[in-house]
Amino acid sequence: MSKYLISLLILGALLLMSTSLLAAQPENPGPKMIKLMMGKKALDFTHLKHQQLTKNQCWECHDKKAGKIANWGEATAHKLCIPCHDLNEKGPINCKGCHPKK
Ligand code: HEC
Ligand code: HEC
Ligand code: HEC
Repeated sequence: MSKYLISLLILGALLLMSTSLLAAQPENPGPKMIKLMMGKKALDFTHLKHQQLTKNQCWECHDKKAGKIANWGEATAHKLCIPCHDLNEKGPINCKGCHPKK
């Protein structure tokens, strides 16, 4: 095996290790549960559970860095939340699944 190939393999292994470490330990995971206010009603969003569902791939929802999501609100939320539920055929996709009447 050429030296070149070996160093490439080592580099690859290091990269894999560092990304899995990053994925395993988010610096600031934020709240386990987030009350998303929709008018006067609130949706208890299972933040921790969703982190586990996405295997800590925070960028599935947080563009670049974890924290407040830019332009958070109705349009952003619907674009973010509904397609993934649709794709996975799990999680609410109908209005009343997230917006309980009361
Ligand atoms: C399924 C979507 C989703 C995933 C995945 C996700 N988050 Fe969040 N997170 C949210 C939403 C929604 C909020 C509230 C957004 C807002 O208020 O701007 C939030 C809020 C936060 C906050 C608090 C921001 C504040 O100041 O109030 C932190 C910190 C955070 N997330 C970190 C993470 C980290 C770290 C990960 C990965 C381990 C992660 N999140 C994965 C959706 C997600
Ligand atoms: C990356 C994919 C993904 C994204 C993005 C996502 N969800 Fe989910 N969500 C799921 C899956 C998968 C389930 C089903 C979990 C189960 O059945 O155990 C779920 C379940 C739920 C449930 C049912 C109750 C629960 O906690 O299991 C609610 C409510 C929910 N999601 C709200 C949201 C909201 C609000 C957002 C946007 C801020 C969001 N989800 C974004 C994948 C996602
Ligand atoms: C996967 C969950 C989810 C589904 C499904 C969903 N929404 Fe939402 N909706 C949200 C979230 C999260 C917000 C924004 C909360 C925030 O600003 O923090 C929101 C905000 C809104 C708002 C603005 C706030 C308010 O209550 O006045 C309206 C109106 C709304 N949605 C209507 C709908 C309608 C109509 C449907 C069905 C076509 C629907 N939503 C489906 C999660 C969902």
